[in-house]
Amino acid sequence: MPVNARGHLVPGKLSPRREVPASIKKPEYVGKPAPTPHTTGDRYDQATVAKIRAASKLAARALELILGSAKPGMTTDDLDRIGHEFLVENGAYPSTLGYRGFPKSICTSLNEVVCHGIPDDTIMRDGDILNVDITAYIDGVHGDTNGSVIIGEGSQEAIDLVERTKEAMHRGIRAALPGREVSVIGRAIESYAKRFGYGVIRDFTGHGVGTSFHTGLIIPHYDAPEYSTVIETGMVFTIEPMITLGSHEWDMWEDGWTVTTKDKSLTAQFEHTIHITEDGPEILTEAK
Ligand code: MF3
Ligand code: CO
Ligand code: CO
Repeated sequence: MPVNARGHLVPGKLSPRREVPASIKKPEYVGKPAPTPHTTGDRYDQATVAKIRAASKLAARALELILGSAKPGMTTDDLDRIGHEFLVENGAYPSTLGYRGFPKSICTSLNEVVCHGIPDDTIMRDGDILNVDITAYIDGVHGDTNGSVIIGEGSQEAIDLVERTKEAMHRGIRAALPGREVSVIGRAIESYAKRFGYGVIRDFTGHGVGTSFHTGLIIPHYDAPEYSTVIETGMVFTIEPMITLGSHEWDMWEDGWTVTTKDKSLTAQFEHTIHITEDGPEILTEAK
């Protein structure tokens, strides 16, 4: 399977844990092995949606800042610092920091890393596909977003993969209409990805998000009719397809987090947090 000039990635060295001022409220799971299960469903009143919209906007602004700063020669830890400082300066807690023991404030996933890459001293090189995933917790709610860019100049197949993964996410979002089952989302995404012979990751999914980081609601990105939850107005969840140049099978590094394609093929991902209205989906993770 084609890779860029780098060859395969190996784990790097982590910087010390970044501090969050005591004035910033932490999610309940920080310092615990796992979050308390979410029991209050996936629909929110307008006041809570307004809070999720604010958290989401902050996450989106952070993502724009980080992806716009990423240059060849920088490390993924440099990006973690930028994201961490931006959120903390704006009064938010970086939701991944201390989530089930995750050690950093963003996820950085390069090339064959599908998701949940840990920022470290890995230097980004020309042609790398970089995905950054960032979640902001503020006012008791989370907003979750991610995006992919190519560092410097990329191969045509990498450029196409990134562009088409973004398009696949938007097709999934447009399918998310009230009254339909959540399975329509993955059907739209996978049928588009299949045109190009791409693989769609199955075992990592979109999810309900809001007063909890992951509520338990699962949004598959592939055609899975058994996910028959009906989409209702007031629901908030993410759509975040991971698409590969090869197969959908994956491996995990010994760090227990970093997911790679099993065949080491390149992969890209995009994510938005959306709110379901009568008129259709509203993207909450917009920077403007
Ligand atoms: N933000 C990721 C998502 O889209 C979750 C990251 S959890 C972490 O669901 F622990 F890996 F950071
Ligand atoms: Co998510
Ligand atoms: Co995310």
